[in-house]
Amino acid sequence: MTIPVLSSRKSERSVQREASRLNVNSDQQMWVEKYRPQKLSEVFDQEQVVSRLQAIVKRPNEMPHLLFAGPPGTGKTTIALCLAREIMGESWRDYTLELNASNERGIDTVRERIKNFASYADRREGIPFRIVLLDESDAMTSDAQQALRRIMEESSRTTRFILTANYSSNIIEPIQSRCAIFRFSRLAESDVVQYLEQICKKEGVKFDDQGLEKIYEATEGDMRHALNMLQAASTLGDISSESVTKVAGLSGRSKVAEVLDMAFEGDFAEARNKMIELLQVSGMSEHDFIKFANEALTRSDYSSSIEAIQATAEADYRLLQGSNPDIQLSAYLATLAKIGKESQASKMKKKE
Ligand SMILES: Nc1ncnc2c1ncn2[C@@H]1O[C@H](COP(=O)(O)OP(=O)(O)O)[C@@H](O)[C@H]1O
Ligand SMILES: [Mg+2]
Repeated sequence: MTIPVLSSRKSERSVQREASRLNVNSDQQMWVEKYRPQKLSEVFDQEQVVSRLQAIVKRPNEMPHLLFAGPPGTGKTTIALCLAREIMGESWRDYTLELNASNERGIDTVRERIKNFASYADRREGIPFRIVLLDESDAMTSDAQQALRRIMEESSRTTRFILTANYSSNIIEPIQSRCAIFRFSRLAESDVVQYLEQICKKEGVKFDDQGLEKIYEATEGDMRHALNMLQAASTLGDISSESVTKVAGLSGRSKVAEVLDMAFEGDFAEARNKMIELLQVSGMSEHDFIKFANEALTRSDYSSSIEAIQATAEADYRLLQGSNPDIQLSAYLATLAKIGKESQASKMKKKE
């Protein structure tokens, strides 16, 4: 039996998709990659995490397994890679396995890859162990996590694991208790603004303070989202309140609520156009879209529609698996439009 392993870790493909969505031409690098910090000292915010990890770098032999928990775009993956680099130096890549679980369909594949990786027992000077970085591990089913726990035990002599998760509570207790837990928080406004300023200067992009503040407002301490929005706004010219508003929509939340209203009113085509605009022009991620849709649904007249709730859960699940967002979200809106029509029809009937 293969136990499914899910992950929403961004693949190469989705990075490219994001680039084209943002109108960034393909030889122009995504800023999130171009400006990803390479050393712990280059990381913004997360002071507590960084200082605990700097202590580990000094005595790597004592490093336990690590669990990085916190919201998206706060530096979990970045910091894991910085740590590997600082512990192992130049050849860190040879000793670090970054598991992109979205390509690893089953826990058996994960086990196989880790086993092969851990069995290169060539121990070099200054390389205390190998590191397996398992991103977004809270998206794994609990059966897969049980299997993972055994893999961690079997390979613990040669290998340290760094797991990342949005919520540590989604990680089974036996794994949590084997890891040192590091909590990541959303980045503070001053840090995000300062980081964006640096990038504007390096890229020769003009900006004003209101523009950068607006980016922070719209992205709430998610640095990946902030950088993507900055890059999208820069394709329109200077970074100002106007250009950011254009790409961000005043508030992603309210825009998504409007899209849902349109769908429920039966205006599927218009709802779909707006959805595509939000994703492709504003650079909203499909995960944010479905998250906001869920919030809007809770506040709408359809909050107790079982069908609507199921449709939301299904779209969320498929997006996590890496399905094409345009197709999945279009199907989602079509379902909502159908629910809206049926509810209108039954209201008319009652009136008669
Ligand atoms: N604390 C941070 N300091 C500097 N840049 C950051 C930080 N957090 C995120 N970033 C930027 O956002 C991008 C995504 O960060 P990442 O580490 O992949 O986030 P996570 O794994 O928490 O979702 C990075 O490439 C980097 O450019
Ligand atoms: Mg990550």
